[in-house]
Amino acid sequence: MLNGKSVLLGISGGIAAYKAAELVRLLVKDGASVHVVMTANAQQFIAPLTFQALTGNPVGTDLFNLEYESQIGHIHLARAADLVILAPATANLIAKIAAGIADDYLTTILLATTVPILVCPAMNVKMYENRITQRNLASLREFNTHLLEPEVGELACKEEGAGRLIDPSVIVETARRLLTPASLEGKRILVSAGPTWEPFDPVRFISNPSSGKMGYALASVAYRRAAEVYLVAGPSSLPPPHGVHFERVTTAHEMRDVIMGHAPQMDVIVMAAAVGDYRPIAVAPQKLKKLQDEVNVTLVKNPDILGHLGASRGVSGRPILIGFAAETENLIENATAKLIQKNLDFIVANNLTQAGSGFGCDTNQVKIIDREGIVTELPPLTKEEVAGRVFDRIEALLHITEP
Ligand code: C5P
Repeated sequence: MLNGKSVLLGISGGIAAYKAAELVRLLVKDGASVHVVMTANAQQFIAPLTFQALTGNPVGTDLFNLEYESQIGHIHLARAADLVILAPATANLIAKIAAGIADDYLTTILLATTVPILVCPAMNVKMYENRITQRNLASLREFNTHLLEPEVGELACKEEGAGRLIDPSVIVETARRLLTPASLEGKRILVSAGPTWEPFDPVRFISNPSSGKMGYALASVAYRRAAEVYLVAGPSSLPPPHGVHFERVTTAHEMRDVIMGHAPQMDVIVMAAAVGDYRPIAVAPQKLKKLQDEVNVTLVKNPDILGHLGASRGVSGRPILIGFAAETENLIENATAKLIQKNLDFIVANNLTQAGSGFGCDTNQVKIIDREGIVTELPPLTKEEVAGRVFDRIEALLHITEP
């Protein structure tokens, strides 16, 4: 997702400097080309060689290193980057930036760059809460910087409080957001994900193997394109994605209630959840005993959330409604019938019997079918790539309805 992007990582001297190695690894894995610049104090905590090995690029350490300066040059670095990340950013570095001081390699670049700067502070809690630091952070916010607040927890000095460097995975996700065009800015988008659990006694339920990956990927992609995202998820072991409003539900009824509550405010609803079509008619108050050889559980139909949304939307055509159809036979016919019956804008159909498609996989091979009956066959893609294609189509629909 950061393919072709150039990230300049500034590391200042705090104990969290060791976490910058993991951050670099994640940035490089995501496709970014990374140049590291370290303050003199940072080099006391971790050696520049670590970053040279991880990035494959020389590390900037000294403004007066003639060889490095002639090879790369601080003004070139300041211009060539798409994004600057400061992690960890110490109180001292933050103070220098706020005052416009340029007395070493890193601060000189920061004064010369015009690209966005993502500041990730890490320090002792008292230093962080100090009114001078807070004043400096407030003045950074006025300029071209984005701030990722530190986490609250146990600090290296054994004190408890705000000051831990935010998780590197959150820094990478924020970098993706800052480097993705804000094509869904101002749009409210609801995504549903995961399976539902339909209980028949207090410890047992009927469900399906949906992992939630497709819905979570949709939510993350919409967040990166600057939408305000509401993710309503059935039981899934995935951690909630960064930057979205997250609501956990268990049953189809709960999912319906949460989605219906949000629906009037949404521009777009994407139903990627594998909602259970049926639920047991009754839930036993106690765990069922193993007394009989056969047990019958009567199932009744669950509310069709998407069908209800489609039936109740007016002539405005809002919200835009997208469904998913997972089929084991007659893919196009069945998916098209659902598109019409549920009054959708398009449906994403996938064949559960195809390898590399459907439940639990990281990849998906889908067909997008629209109201005109046009079928667009996508190649095998990661679920994040499928999510990107789905939102490309949604953006086209938003442009048609909003001249
Ligand atoms: O009819 P079928 O369950 O195959 O339709 C799939 C689509 O309908 C999915 O987008 C799914 O999220 C949605 N759905 C729903 N409520 C149900 C069942 C499915 O919203 N009870």
